[in-house]
Amino acid sequence: MSSANLTLPNDFFFGAAMSGPQTEGMYKAHGKLENLWDTWSDLDIRAFYNRVGSYAGNDMGARYAEDFALLRDLGLSSFRTSIQWSRLLDVDGKLNVEGAAFYHDYFAAAREAGIEVFVNLYHFDMPVYLFRRGGWENREVVEAYANYARTAFAEFGQEIEHWFTFNEPIVEPEQRYEHGNWYPFLHDFAQARRVQYGISLAHSLAVGAFRELQAKGVVRADAQIGLINCFTPPYTREDPTPADLEAVRMTDGLGNRWWLDLVTKGRLPQDVLDTMAERGVTLPVRAGDEAILAQGKVDWLGFNYYQPARVQAPSHDVDEWGNPVFSERYVWPDAVMNKSRGWEIYPKGIYDFAMTMTRDYSDLDWFVSENGIGIMEDKAVRTEDGRIDDTAYRIPFVRDHLQWIAKAIDEGARCRGYHYWGVIDCWSWNNAYKNRYGFIEVDLSHNYERRLKASAEWLRHVATTHCLDEA
Ligand code: FCB
Repeated sequence: MSSANLTLPNDFFFGAAMSGPQTEGMYKAHGKLENLWDTWSDLDIRAFYNRVGSYAGNDMGARYAEDFALLRDLGLSSFRTSIQWSRLLDVDGKLNVEGAAFYHDYFAAAREAGIEVFVNLYHFDMPVYLFRRGGWENREVVEAYANYARTAFAEFGQEIEHWFTFNEPIVEPEQRYEHGNWYPFLHDFAQARRVQYGISLAHSLAVGAFRELQAKGVVRADAQIGLINCFTPPYTREDPTPADLEAVRMTDGLGNRWWLDLVTKGRLPQDVLDTMAERGVTLPVRAGDEAILAQGKVDWLGFNYYQPARVQAPSHDVDEWGNPVFSERYVWPDAVMNKSRGWEIYPKGIYDFAMTMTRDYSDLDWFVSENGIGIMEDKAVRTEDGRIDDTAYRIPFVRDHLQWIAKAIDEGARCRGYHYWGVIDCWSWNNAYKNRYGFIEVDLSHNYERRLKASAEWLRHVATTHCLDEA
């Protein structure tokens, strides 16, 4: 990037993002219920890379005090995880006291280490008994989530300042219901949108409960609530046709504006709903839903950024399962790929999203809530003292993204901080430990032992000085 701004504001925060189901382990401790990842692991462990299922996370449930000290030592001040619904509530939807005690201890240890915990409530991890009742398509489950959120706010409302209702609410509709990648492997566009609608209602009910409990003093007065999504800045070919631009509109509409409108305007984008309806896809809207969605406005937003969306006009109107198709992938000839993950590396996307926010959603503060690079051959090169030498790829990746963030802030973007995804290697769903994201290695052959990677020094330097120079 030319003429780069090499500093970030003093009050810009640096931290780590992770989640409960990817780190805690202890999958049957504290009376924890089975969640969808446990179910899938039990059903077909071969679906998970190297047959590593959901059971152990990265052992953080047992090692959190050590891990918070490591994060602090890297100069990080905050850490996002998620409470597991399956650990906090019992099968009757009542507080599981043992599960709650685990989280109280965990948050207290973070505070002691000088790490502020950002708490997310849901990271693709529905208790399976609720999934079997229809999951997000069933209003009873939507209500059950609202009850869960309310219970969490009541239990931890004096401890936690930063709350989030969902991480990447677009991912379950896509991965479970539309693209057939995750259990239960469905290919149904309309069902995916019903799920997406159920999640939108659940989010809004949770924000409503938060506001109510805050007004009563149950939730502390300085607490804030937000939503985190993997927004994908959309692009198409140079010299697009009107049909290419339509593909961009719908990709942006379904994946980005759906959530941005919900959390800033308290409604869903009408143009997207109209286009879906023209193709026979309608949502199960009930009387009263409008008022529920209107409660969905948040205090700030988390932006997970890994890759842009490059799309073009579809070559077929309908796919092999009879679903309407609104766009198809455009292969940009200049794309730089992370071959391990198959995701494009495009740091400028973070800036383009920032500028969209500045233009179209200018009242909202936000932060980069995930960004990171997962590498399969992370172990390939070691320094003489045995650390993984990841400096050649991890440092440029993060530096380039931070430089674009700095430029966006200079131009008015309300980006408040940056959480690197992982920091400590963790379990990544069915990819398990295939791609390593961390600045800290987790050694699976030696009892999950932690070891700094060579790039960790650089992270410490940036997090403590806010300078993005070549040091
Ligand atoms: C994101 C997820 C996160 C992690 C990273 C690699 O999409 O939010 O849980 O798996 O990808």
